[in-house]
Amino acid sequence: MGKSMALADFTKQLDALATEAVRAFDSAATAEALEGARVEFLGAKQGRLKAAQKGMGTIDKSDRPAAGKRFNEVKEQIESAFKAASERLAAAPVAAVKQGPQFDPTVPGTPFRIGRLHPITQTVEELKDIMGRLGFSVADGPEVEDEWHNFEALNIPREHPARDPLDNFYLATAAAATGGKTGLLRSQTSTVQIRVMEQAPPPVRIICLGRVYRPDTADATHYPMFHQMEGLLIDTQVTMADLKSVLRLFATSYLGRDVHIRFRPSFFPFTEPSVEADFHWDGQWIEFGGAGMVDPNVLKAVGYDPEKYIGFAFGLGVERLCMRRHGITDIREFYKNDVRFLHQF
Ligand code: PHE
Repeated sequence: MGKSMALADFTKQLDALATEAVRAFDSAATAEALEGARVEFLGAKQGRLKAAQKGMGTIDKSDRPAAGKRFNEVKEQIESAFKAASERLAAAPVAAVKQGPQFDPTVPGTPFRIGRLHPITQTVEELKDIMGRLGFSVADGPEVEDEWHNFEALNIPREHPARDPLDNFYLATAAAATGGKTGLLRSQTSTVQIRVMEQAPPPVRIICLGRVYRPDTADATHYPMFHQMEGLLIDTQVTMADLKSVLRLFATSYLGRDVHIRFRPSFFPFTEPSVEADFHWDGQWIEFGGAGMVDPNVLKAVGYDPEKYIGFAFGLGVERLCMRRHGITDIREFYKNDVRFLHQF
């Protein structure tokens, strides 16, 4: 600073100081920051306002009154900016409480909305459990199948009505999934019998739980997609009595009381003899699926020796089991995705 200072320079300095000080106070976000700024600008000994005041001594005498007046104005401006900032910071915590929720450990927590498994998935898990206790392990197969596994190897020849395009979902675009062969959505889980036997020698004791597809119009008891539980047991000494015992143990275990089993003669190309399996429930006989002794042609198709091996197979409807257990009367409820329905299981 020179020996004497013009009033204009002094005023300029004061204005710059005021701008800087007001900005510092306005932007102070914490009490510590504000205190730092206060010491810098308003400090009684080292403060920059104090330093500016000292500069007044070098101003021409005639200009001093004007300089003093300007100084007081700026001092007031800076002090009021400080005061406003102090008040703003003092009020801040109160404002925060008003704005948003604070953590209050005494308020009961928000209950979690825990999802649950679909009733069919629950049933599938339970059936695996029951059959697991009877010594059956779980096998799986693809839902997009070729004609060999869905028909041919199951002794269903080309001219058989079960292969009618109107009764199956043949796929125009399945070539990639089936290696160029005609593909379809499997119409039964019996496909997995073939896949398992192709892969491993006897004895076999498996179940397969999965989706099957048939172009049925949806009504209370039909749906174009549903689930089956397939069972297959192959060994050297197996009879229909074993089949009946397994089904009875299964039904008793699933339905929770001693369930009687009735076999009615039937026909499936892949079993001989074939039966419809009915379970006795609430004074009625209810059909749960088909079963029978595995046809020798099926054993031949997978390279098993039919003179040495024998076995049984069965296929039950999973939806039907689940509906019977819970008193559900319309299969379509399972696939509407209405949580009011699904929430009950
Ligand atoms: N696959 C038959 C069906 O879908 C059921 C079945 C399975 C019958 C195994 C006999 C043996 O109707």
